[in-house]
Amino acid sequence: MSRVTLTQYLVEQQRAKGLAPADVRQLIEDVGRACKGIASAINKGALAGVLGGAGTDNVQGEAQKKLDVISNDMIVAATEWGGYLAGMASEEMDNALPIPAHLPKGEYLLVYDPLDGSSNIDVNVSVGTIFSVLRCPQGVSAADEKAYLQPGKQQIAAGFVVYGPATIMVLTVGNGATAFTLDRDAGDWIQTTEKIEIPADTKEFAINTSNSRNWTAPIKRYIDECLAGTKGPRGKDFNMRWVASMVADVFRIISRGGIFMYPADAKYAEGRLRLLYEANPMSFIVEQAGGAAINGPQRILDVQPGKLHQRQGVILGSKNEVALVGKYYAEMK
Ligand code: AHG
Ligand code: MN
Ligand code: MN
Repeated sequence: MSRVTLTQYLVEQQRAKGLAPADVRQLIEDVGRACKGIASAINKGALAGVLGGAGTDNVQGEAQKKLDVISNDMIVAATEWGGYLAGMASEEMDNALPIPAHLPKGEYLLVYDPLDGSSNIDVNVSVGTIFSVLRCPQGVSAADEKAYLQPGKQQIAAGFVVYGPATIMVLTVGNGATAFTLDRDAGDWIQTTEKIEIPADTKEFAINTSNSRNWTAPIKRYIDECLAGTKGPRGKDFNMRWVASMVADVFRIISRGGIFMYPADAKYAEGRLRLLYEANPMSFIVEQAGGAAINGPQRILDVQPGKLHQRQGVILGSKNEVALVGKYYAEMK
C-alpha cells in the first residue's frame, strides 16, 4: 500500500483543485498533531491521571471531564501560534477566543468539540475530536461571536478523529471525504480510505430510544416502521446501534451505511447536539461522502446560526433513509 500522508493529500488537493491553501494545510496538520497528543493521553487513561471529572461546568451546563479541558487546551496551544487563525471557538469555552495580540493572525476560524462522547471516557468506549474551518468575514473581529455565525455550507474544511481501537481521522476539504489512520510508530497520518462513499440504503439506525416518549410524530413513525421489520411497511428487519459518541456512530455510518438521529424533541426543543462544532462538520463530511444531513424540515448546512453554542436536531447518513425521514416531516407537520 502506498503511504500517502496527510501532508501529501493536502498538497495534492491544492495542486489539483486549488483547495486547502498553505494556511489551511498547516492548520489541519497542527490540529492533527494536537489529536496525536490527545490520542496518547486517552490511551494512557488512568495511568496518566486524565480520567474523571474536572470539577467544573462548561457553558452548556455540563460537568467537564478532565480530558475535555486537557484536549481543549492542547488544541489551543497547537494552533494559536500558527498565524493562520483570526480566532477559535470551542464547546468547552464560553466565548470565542481571539488570537493574543503578540501572535500573528490569519484569515481562518477554527471551531471544535475537543472531546466528543465525554460520557464514555471513564468506561473506555471510543471518543473523538470534531473540527470545522471557516473563513473570518472581512472587517469582522474574530473576538466577535458574529464572525462564527455562518451557515455550514460556508465551511472550508471539516474533520473528526475517532480514538478507537485504531485512531482514525476523517477529513474533507470540499473534494470528497477521505480517512487517515494514525501510524503510532512513525507518528504519521496515513491515508487508508481514499474516497468514502456512504451506501444509499441501510438496515441500521442509531438513536437513543430512552427518549422515545419525547419524540415527534415523524420520528416515532420512522422508528416504529423499522421495528415492525419484514412484517411492516419497510418489508425488512433493522438493527440498532447507539454508542453515545457521535464520532463513533458517524464513523460506523460512513463505513457501512446507517442513519444517525438526535432529533429535536419535547425534551430538547432545539435538539441536543451543537450546530457549529458537531452538526455542521459532520454534515459537511457526510454530504461529501454521498450521504444527506437534515434537521427534519431543513438541510443542516443551510441553517443560519443565531448563537455560538446553538443546538440543532440531527438526522444524517444513508441518503435514501434520510430522505424518507424528511418526507415524514413534510407530510406530518
Ligand atoms: P459531548 O461529549 O461532546 O457533549 O457529546 C456527546 C454527544 C454526542 O457525542 C452523542 O451522540 C450524544 O451526546 C449522546 O447523547 P446521550 O448521552 O443523550 O445519548
Ligand atoms: Mn460532542
Ligand atoms: Mn465535547
